[in-house]
Amino acid sequence: MIRWNSLYAERARADHKDLVSGTGRQVINMSAGFPEPSLFPVEEVPRLIQSLAAEDGKALLQYNPPAGYEPLRAWIAKHSSTQDTRIETEQVLLTHGAQQGLDVVAKLLVEPGDCVLVEGPSFHGALWVFQAADAKIVTIPLEGEGMRLDVLEARLSELHEQGGLPKFIYTIPTFHNPTGYTATLERRLGLLELAERFGVPIVEDVPYNDLWYDAAPPPTLLELAGPERVIQVGTFSKTLCPALRVGWMIGPAGLIQKARHFKHIADTCSSGILQRVAYRLIQEGFWEHNVSRARELYRAKRDALTEAFATLNVPGVTCTVPSGGFFAWMKLPEGISSQKFQQFALEHGVSIAASPMFFADGKDAGACRLTISFPSPEQIRQGTAKLGEAMQRFFTHQY
Ligand SMILES: Cc1ncc(COP(=O)(O)O)c(C=O)c1O
Repeated sequence: MIRWNSLYAERARADHKDLVSGTGRQVINMSAGFPEPSLFPVEEVPRLIQSLAAEDGKALLQYNPPAGYEPLRAWIAKHSSTQDTRIETEQVLLTHGAQQGLDVVAKLLVEPGDCVLVEGPSFHGALWVFQAADAKIVTIPLEGEGMRLDVLEARLSELHEQGGLPKFIYTIPTFHNPTGYTATLERRLGLLELAERFGVPIVEDVPYNDLWYDAAPPPTLLELAGPERVIQVGTFSKTLCPALRVGWMIGPAGLIQKARHFKHIADTCSSGILQRVAYRLIQEGFWEHNVSRARELYRAKRDALTEAFATLNVPGVTCTVPSGGFFAWMKLPEGISSQKFQQFALEHGVSIAASPMFFADGKDAGACRLTISFPSPEQIRQGTAKLGEAMQRFFTHQY
């Protein structure tokens, strides 16, 4: 008999839980960060695969270059460039979704015990990557306007004095996961100023950037500071569909050159079929059209949430009104466990995501992530009403 438990590497010993999401037909899923399925290129993908195969099936089925399909890299470089910040194709690596971009960054930069600064709360998928790299994760509190710069400055000074500056600062400045917050231009500039002063690079994650509902967000950190100071991780998962697994990483040309090696170690190469399909979807105008459709659909869902929430009127409970992306952050009254409430809400027919999974130390911040991208406006209204009922009972009886 093999004693597997004694063989696991240290990083694999913890209990890795899946997201609590409602799978039963009676449960409204407001926990998983799934896009709206009606936006998926359901007809276009098979048609494009067929026409690509007819054009040059042998090339289509061959190994892909490790950095990815060149025309798509070139398009991303151009699309990410501004008048002041020019991105070259060699500064772009295509990845298997943004998640792999984060993993490659960690493989390149993090040694066991190295410090990495993250927002609190932050995207659980990134926290898992940094934990698996044995990073020492230091959390900087996040508020509506962005990262707390006073705390960031204090931590950077302390770490500088101890001789252990962080390898990077990881941030999701726009339509943040899990809170829906968007950092103001002032905070972005302040963050860049501190990062520059202490000589620390930034890893900027931008999966939701194009999905604004009301007005375009402030410029990205990459646009403001360029790829010598900011590594950017992006994806088509939210604007085309997750199953393509087409993401990218932008950074200094030398780092991207090295990144190819770690991408190769992970999976040799991503699918050339799917990268070509993504490129054709862009060339045919599907992507651009889809982004504007997505903005309208998600705006209607955000409005459904805010209107439904306004009718609840549960004392001590607040919910953000996101201006883009997939998520809203619901804060519970002082002292209420979000984890216990998550379970209670599930029993009432709504799945939501409690705060511990968004903190490296698993702390319960008394808040929950509500996903608005997947349920319909009607389901959001029903789900919010169910949350209201659950809250009334939960807070009265203090389960
Ligand atoms: C902030 C953030 N980064 C990265 C990802 C991963 O994206 P992908 O599906 O492209 O791997 C997600 C997906 O939910 C996300 O929310």
